[in-house]
Amino acid sequence: MVSAVAAHLLLFLVSVNLIPIAPVLEERPFQVADGGVGVAALGKSRKRVFPMPHTEEPNPISEAYSYCNTPNRTEQAWEGHSPADYKLLSVQVMIRHGDRYPLYYIPKTKRPAIDCTLSTNRKPSHPLLNAFIRHMGQGSRGHWESTLGSVPRLPNHSACEMGELTQTGVVQHLRNGQLLHQAYKRHNLLPSDWSPRQVWVETTGKSRTLQSGLAFLYGFLPDFDWTRVTARHQWSTLFCGSACDCPARNRHLEEEQRRQYRLRVSDTELERTYADMARTLGLLTRQLRAANPIDSLLCHLCHGISFPCVPAGAGIAGGCLTMEQFAVIRRQQLDDEADRRRAGLYHKYAVLAMYPYLNRTAAKMERVARDNEAGRQRRPGGEELFTLSSAHDVTVAPLLSALGLEEARFPRFAARVVFELWKSPPATQGPAKKRAGRGEKAKAKDGELFVRVLYNGEDVTFHTSFCRAHDRRARQPLCPLKNFLSFVRRDMFGVVNATSYQEACSRRPG
Ligand SMILES: *[C@@H]1O[C@H](CO)[C@@H](O)[C@H](O)[C@H]1NC(C)=O
Ligand SMILES: *[C@@H]1O[C@H](CO)[C@@H](O)[C@H](O)[C@H]1NC(C)=O
Ligand SMILES: *[C@@H]1O[C@H](CO)[C@@H](O)[C@H](O)[C@H]1NC(C)=O
Ligand SMILES: *[C@@H]1O[C@H](CO)[C@@H](O)[C@H](O)[C@H]1NC(C)=O
Repeated sequence: MVSAVAAHLLLFLVSVNLIPIAPVLEERPFQVADGGVGVAALGKSRKRVFPMPHTEEPNPISEAYSYCNTPNRTEQAWEGHSPADYKLLSVQVMIRHGDRYPLYYIPKTKRPAIDCTLSTNRKPSHPLLNAFIRHMGQGSRGHWESTLGSVPRLPNHSACEMGELTQTGVVQHLRNGQLLHQAYKRHNLLPSDWSPRQVWVETTGKSRTLQSGLAFLYGFLPDFDWTRVTARHQWSTLFCGSACDCPARNRHLEEEQRRQYRLRVSDTELERTYADMARTLGLLTRQLRAANPIDSLLCHLCHGISFPCVPAGAGIAGGCLTMEQFAVIRRQQLDDEADRRRAGLYHKYAVLAMYPYLNRTAAKMERVARDNEAGRQRRPGGEELFTLSSAHDVTVAPLLSALGLEEARFPRFAARVVFELWKSPPATQGPAKKRAGRGEKAKAKDGELFVRVLYNGEDVTFHTSFCRAHDRRARQPLCPLKNFLSFVRRDMFGVVNATSYQEACSRRPG
């Protein structure tokens, strides 16, 4: 439980100078991570992820339910939509793992009773569930990088372990994969004989991300051929590969944590609530705080389990934790997200944290485009056409922030961010047209390249920093790839007054 301890330090120690570096952080539900909450949208029009600047407070309870992402309704997915005749060249997806058992335990209370074995007799279920379980039984045929081969490929404890993926989490990702399967079916993204290089799967070493990734992959490519799958291991939750070293990033994170701490201790309602809850359970306030009760309470809420109660006794007031107390903690977290956006410290951290991932994403797009131009795109051994990165909230939240999607909701369970690369149909050049008119063959100009970015199925391309200013009514209905490339290669470092990752990372504190 080293990671839980690290998270605890981050949340609750004042002496932030001693904080361990970011990439080893475990997720801290709703706490440090960013993304903001689509505030005014709550309850009113659930479809709008990006409401106008908000004037009213969100409802902390309904917001928490949307975080659960209970798979009980059909979802809109705008993936795969483009002007007619555009060709889909590649898709890169980052997901947050699905619903999981708490990472923290509230002392003196009973743990929520949740069964983490998979069964179609339990809700929520999925038509693919049994086939998925069978398919995972053959997983030893896949290629597993480093230690991934020894991570269980299915959750399978009748009493969930801490942080274990639940059946809900599996179903969430079977559904995600299936949604994208539908969305991309007619675009023939992958050749039927796709090669191991064309489908790239990467995950952290946690069972919940590995299992989430496999459920997604199964929904996307039912009965996929195991021998063509390699699961790559990302050691850092930032998916920064070999470019994780960035001293300045950690300084930005520490500043952000100091801001967060100051805001929290100035919230008297929150402090009173923690004290009340601690009294009910017979704990010291700081013991309760360290147990990060919101994590466990969210699990109760998402699974329809009533909040924990304890009998009165010596030094224990007794009683149950209440929805009102839960709402106060959630309200403070939403305040924190709003304050974080205003302060901008987290955004600086996020830009440095996610550059390596974005740089890889951009490089892949360029390679795929180059291969396509050379007409090699359907050959085995071609570049990655589909990438799946199975990650955590501490990955997805900085990704959203780095892209400038500050108003996006905090990544719920099984959240997904999708990058699509499109090519417009070859245009006929002016002079060529004239010549063609005189009976010569028209010379086709190669199509242009565009990106789309989607968050939980919603097209957010024109909310990103690199395409916010793009005039959609102009000739180009999508966002040009070059906007994204110059953003990643240079422009994104403007917020830290630098022009490159190396420059920004090596800067001395000033
Ligand atoms: C889905 O589940 C959520 C949370 O349990 C609940 O609030 C909502 O009413 C359910 N929706 C449907 C359509 O059943
Ligand atoms: C789950 O665990 C049980 C008991 O250890 C075992 O019998 C069963 O085969 C496992 N199921 C899967 C799908 O791994
Ligand atoms: C960024 O990507 C390029 C390839 O496009 C690579 O050469 C470079 O090393 C990458 N930089 C970092 C810091 O990851
Ligand atoms: C930005 O960086 C340049 C060159 O490194 C420096 O001269 C300038 O003072 C910096 N500006 C701010 C606002 O830090």
